[in-house]
Order: sequence, then C-alpha cells, then structure tokens
Amino acid sequence: MAKEESKNGEQSSSEWKQFIYNPRSGEILGRTASSWALILLFYLVFYGFLAGLFTLTMWVMLQTLDDSVPKYRDRVSSPGLMISPKSPGLELTFSKSDKSSYEAYTKVLHSFLGPYNDSLQATNNVACTQGHYFEQEGVEERKSCQFNRSSLGPCAGLEGNEYFGYNEGSPCVIVKMNRIIGLKPLGNPKINCTSKAENVSLQYYPDYGMIDLMYYPYYGKKTHLNYVQPLVAVKITPLNTTGTSEVVLECKLQGSPNLKNEDDRDKFLGRVNFRVQIRD
Ligand SMILES: *[C@@H]1O[C@H](CO)[C@@H](O)[C@H](O)[C@H]1NC(C)=O
Ligand SMILES: *[C@@H]1O[C@H](CO)[C@@H](O)[C@H](O)[C@H]1NC(C)=O
Ligand SMILES: *[C@@H]1O[C@H](CO)[C@@H](O)[C@H](O)[C@H]1NC(C)=O
Ligand SMILES: *[C@@H]1O[C@H](CO)[C@@H](O)[C@H](O)[C@H]1NC(C)=O
Ligand SMILES: *[C@@H]1O[C@H](CO)[C@@H](O)[C@H](O)[C@H]1NC(C)=O
Repeated sequence: MAKEESKNGEQSSSEWKQFIYNPRSGEILGRTASSWALILLFYLVFYGFLAGLFTLTMWVMLQTLDDSVPKYRDRVSSPGLMISPKSPGLELTFSKSDKSSYEAYTKVLHSFLGPYNDSLQATNNVACTQGHYFEQEGVEERKSCQFNRSSLGPCAGLEGNEYFGYNEGSPCVIVKMNRIIGLKPLGNPKINCTSKAENVSLQYYPDYGMIDLMYYPYYGKKTHLNYVQPLVAVKITPLNTTGTSEVVLECKLQGSPNLKNEDDRDKFLGRVNFRVQIRD
C-alpha cells in the first residue's frame, strides 16, 4: 500500500514537471511557445484598443468643455445671499464701548472692501452705463465695471467711519449676492431687509439697496479680470438706545422676477437671516 502511494507520488511529480515543460513537444504549461505568443499578442492588441478608445472618448469630451463655464447647470441658477462680516451662526455680538469686541468684524470689512478702493477701481475697471447689462461676447479678456467703495457712504469704512458704526452702536453689515456665471437679473433687483420688531431703522447704501444691472453678466474668474460683485451695505440703527438691543433681520433679493427668494429647502437662496446683538 505504502509503496504504491509513493510510486503514485513519483508519477504525479514527473507529470507536473512534464506539464511545466514538456521536452518532447516543447510545450510550456500545456501550450507551445507560439501559442503563448499568439495569446499575448491578442491581449496586447485588445487592451491597447481599450486604452485607445478610452483616451479618444476623454479627449472628445474635454474638447466640448470650456474652462470657465460649468457645463451642467439646472438653467442659470438663482444666487444665494451672504453677509460680511460672517460669523458663526450669523450672529454678530459686540459692545459699542469695547473696541476689542468688534475689532474682528471691522478688520474683516476692511480687508473685504480693499479691492473696492476707488483708486483701484479707477485704474483697473471701467465706468459702465448704469442700468444696462455689460455684455462682452466673443472677447478674450472681459473688462469689469467700477464699484466704488465710497458709494457705500458711512459703511465704506473710510475716514471718520473706520469702525463702520460699530463704535456708535449702529453697525454696518454688507450683503452680497453669490457670483453666478451668465446670470442676467431681470427687472430692478435690490436688497430689502426686514425686522420683525419695528424698533429699528435701516439705511441702505447705495440708495434703496439697488443692485445695478451693469455688473451682469459675470463671465468667470479666468476671463473677467478684476470683477467686483456689487454690494449693498445696511446700516442698522436701533431706535431704543438704552441697554442691549437685539436685532433679527432677514434680507431678501426683491424686484427681479428671475431671482428666487423663497425656497423651503434652501434658506440662503436669495435671502439671508442674521442676528445682531448690540450692548452698551
Ligand atoms: C484701500 O484703502 C484703504 C484706505 O484708504 C487702505 O488702508 C487699504 O490698504 C487699501 N487697500 C488696497 C487693497 O489697496
Ligand atoms: C468711481 O470713482 C471715480 C473717481 O473716484 C469716478 O471717476 C467714477 O465715475 C466712479 N465710478 C462709479 C461707478 O461711480
Ligand atoms: C421690503 O419688503 C417688505 C415685505 O416684503 C415690503 O413690505 C416693503 O415694502 C419692502 N420695502 C421696500 C423698500 O421695497
Ligand atoms: C424702548 O425700551 C423700553 C424698555 O426697555 C420700552 O418700554 C419701550 O417701548 C421701547 N421703545 C421702543 C420705541 O421700542
Ligand atoms: C426691540 O424690541 C424687542 C422687544 O420689545 C427687544 O427685545 C429688542 O431688543 C428691541 N430691539 C431694538 C433694536 O431696540
């Protein structure tokens, strides 16, 4: 019994050797060298073809893309609103008598408004015709319209208003509309802020919170150099000046039929809610 098993073992081991290399037929792993070469060639051609097809498809697809314009959008979407200074929870809290409590806000505003300096606007950008779109189709480098920092009045943070009213308990908040490539607002878009409590007075800069059409359409970062998005500053003055005032505001885009401002799922679509707490 044991002898036979070992004989079987010898036999299968020599069968293995024959399978790996058969000196009689010249077969390697059961195939002749030329058969292996053919198989190798077949896979080489097959995968080469697949790689070529993939590259071609990719190339054709990339040809249809424009670097500066997103290809797939659900129509031209409606913009969201945001405020500056932006704080966690969109809650600004400060004491008008304590400079350190609002310095972070005024610093953000100063750096945000840097590019809007009148001097920069005058050298980099052009004075456009108000109330009309500034269309520049088929132009390689688009020009941008001037938006002068000084048009924000006391909210420009210029001489005499370095603290944007925070030191007087009447702070400025800047409302901006997100940039959307190709968007052309219809009608007369403006920012309108409302407070549930009526004990607050709001002043808008530029007047009436208007957003001029000349800043549209926007052509994208790459070709639209020095573009500055139009801004609206809101100066918030509580009517009750004693003690702590809490102001809850909702700012909305109004006056333009193609800019949405009521979407239950997106609370930043065309509107922004924020809270300002002003202590003595
Ligand atoms: C803008 O003007 C302010 C005040 O005149 C100045 O402090 C600031 O450095 C300027 N910013 C830029 C970016 O030129
Ligand atoms: C911005 O200011 C410059 C000079 O300070 C002025 O020439 C230009 O007309 C102003 N532009 C706008 C859009 O108000
Ligand atoms: C702002 O919106 C409110 C509510 O939608 C409206 O009653 C008010 O007239 C608007 N104010 C301006 C200046 O358009
Ligand atoms: C101002 O506040 C006092 C109490 O804090 C209140 O009685 C009064 O109605 C307030 N006035 C206004 C205009 O909100
Ligand atoms: C407005 O009145 C409410 C309650 O009457 C109060 O809590 C809030 O601080 C007041 N806001 C301002 C800006 O005076």
